[in-house]
Order: sequence, then structure tokens, then C-alpha cells
Amino acid sequence: MRQIILTGDRPTGPLHLGHFVGSLQNRVRLQHEYETYVLIADLQALTDHADQPALIRRSVHEVALDNLAVGIDPAVATLVIQSRVPELAELTMYYLNLVTLARLQRNPTVKDEMRQKGFDADVPAGFLVYPVSQAADITAFGAHLVPVGEDQLPMIEQTVEIVRRFNRMYPGQAETVLVEPRALVPPIARLPGTDGQGKMGKSLGNAIFLSDSTDVVAEKVRAMYTDPRHLRVEDPGTVEGNPVFSYLDAFDPDTAAVEELKRRYRAGGLGDVVVKARLIELLEAFLTPIRARRRALAEDQAHVGRVLREGTERGRETAGRTLSKVRAAMGLDD
Ligand code: TRP
Repeated sequence: MRQIILTGDRPTGPLHLGHFVGSLQNRVRLQHEYETYVLIADLQALTDHADQPALIRRSVHEVALDNLAVGIDPAVATLVIQSRVPELAELTMYYLNLVTLARLQRNPTVKDEMRQKGFDADVPAGFLVYPVSQAADITAFGAHLVPVGEDQLPMIEQTVEIVRRFNRMYPGQAETVLVEPRALVPPIARLPGTDGQGKMGKSLGNAIFLSDSTDVVAEKVRAMYTDPRHLRVEDPGTVEGNPVFSYLDAFDPDTAAVEELKRRYRAGGLGDVVVKARLIELLEAFLTPIRARRRALAEDQAHVGRVLREGTERGRETAGRTLSKVRAAMGLDD
């Protein structure tokens, strides 16, 4: 039997280059080798957007379009809407008893996000426990592999802990009930924002979206943070922590050319304008076919609707099979 991939996106807006580098690229590449599920995690999106259900509803479609536009093939991969699989919520409830509050409060990604969102003591309980719901997502589909960006590693770690506790506490009759997943993080694990800050994020206002127009992409790249001490073209520049070069590393297949640009930039005499012009050209070449596919798909909403409906149905069957095993192992099935 083929191994299983499960990964997902929060539908709080369209997807950006950071999503592509962190996860989309790997899921597209591996969809023919693995039985692949892509979860549109609208329940998770609600944990910090409870007051914006209309945004989430709209974004479910945006995220579906983005996945299909970058090459997810619904003939081999399955797109699933999280909220339409109630088994995921049920499994989350079982798992919540296997995790302590202290453990949840130690999750470094959740901590970062809480700080960023200014949550403090007012954090919604649902937000604090979303890693448990994510563990349910991953294990309900029996995933062996989870293609994610580096920021998601704490989620996979927490999932593995839950799986081990569950399997120890509720050993199945014949086989182990839950599969222990493994994260797949790409070599460039984190794409910085256009402002040079740690991570590209929708809510950080530093993202280039897969659906951005030619003009918007050019504008964003021209405004990108570079080396603040590289004032004149003749000045030597710094490549480390300079997002323009991080993007070249991620999107320029000609690594020798990138190395040569870095050498000239460090030596002095290479202006930001020239490097940015090259990046604009590369991103254009990368995004043009994605935009075209996205436009064509957006005109065929009936097709996208069908892909989501059929995918969600298949996903529900898979999750249902896991839940039967889970209930049996817990003695809840009669
Ligand atoms: N937390 C992920 C993100 O913010 C989205 C997600 C939800 C996910 N469920 C998942 C990722 C399951 C991997 C596996 O991008």
C-alpha cells in the first residue's frame, strides 16, 4: 500500500510564496508517489478569526484555487474541507485528554503567534489547543509524511507525543491504532517576508501572494528590505539576512548565477536595483503560468466545487475508518 501524505493550509486569505516554498512545492512533487490529502483547515482558521466567518468561507475557495493552480492534481490528490469532516472534531476531543495545559503553553509556534496577535491572557481556548486538532487532522488520515515549513515542526512533535500516548493507553486488538507521522521540511525551510522579518505571513503585511498581479509583484519587490548599509552601488553589501537573496535562492534554478551575484554584491559595485530586477523577472516567469491556471479555474467554479465535494467525501471515508479503529481501541464502539 502507498504511504500517505496529509498537509494543510489555514484559509484566512490567498496563499503566498512562503506557503509555496514551505509546503506546496513538496506536496505537488510527491502527489504521484504518495496517497495525498490536502486539508483546507477552516476550523483551525476560526481559532483566531471567529469573528470573520465570511472571510474564511471565501478563503476556502481561494486556497483550493491556489493549490490547483500550482499543480495539485485532483485526479491523484484529495482536497478536503476540514469542517465537513466531523470525525476530526471528535478525534480532537479524545486527544485533548492526552495533553496537559502546560504542554500546550510550551508550544513555541503557538507562543510566537500569541505574541504576534497580542493575545496574552485573552487567548481563545480554541487557539491554544489547535495543535491538538492538527494532530487529529494528521492521524485521522493515517499520514506517514507531513510536508510543512519549519514553523510547523512543533505541531508534528506534539502529534508524535499524542500518538505514542494513545497507542500505549489504548492498544488495539491486532495492529497499532495510530500511525506516527514524520515532518518533511524543505532545504529552504523558511522564506522571510519582504520586510526582511523572520517569516512571510498574511497577517504580517509582508507577503507576495501567488495571485498577485505583475504590477503588484514588481512594486513589492522594489520596496523590499535589503542591506540598510548598502547605500551606494559601490558599497560592499551583505547577503545574509537580505531577503532579496533568500528569494533568489528559493526561485532561481541557476544556482551558479546566484552565487556570482552574491559575490559581486559582497564586493561592492552591484546595486539593489539590478538584483531586484532579476528577482522580478524570475518571479514573473514562475507566477505567469500559475496565474493563468488560476484564472481558468476561477471561471469554472462548478469544477472547483465538485473537486471539493468529492474530495471531502473521500476524506471523510478515510477519517471514518480511523475513527472506527479509535473508538474500538477505546472501548466506545458498543
Ligand atoms: N497549521 C498549518 C498552517 O498554519 C495548517 C494545517 C492545519 C496543517 N492542519 C494541518 C498543516 C495538518 C499540516 C498538517 O499552515
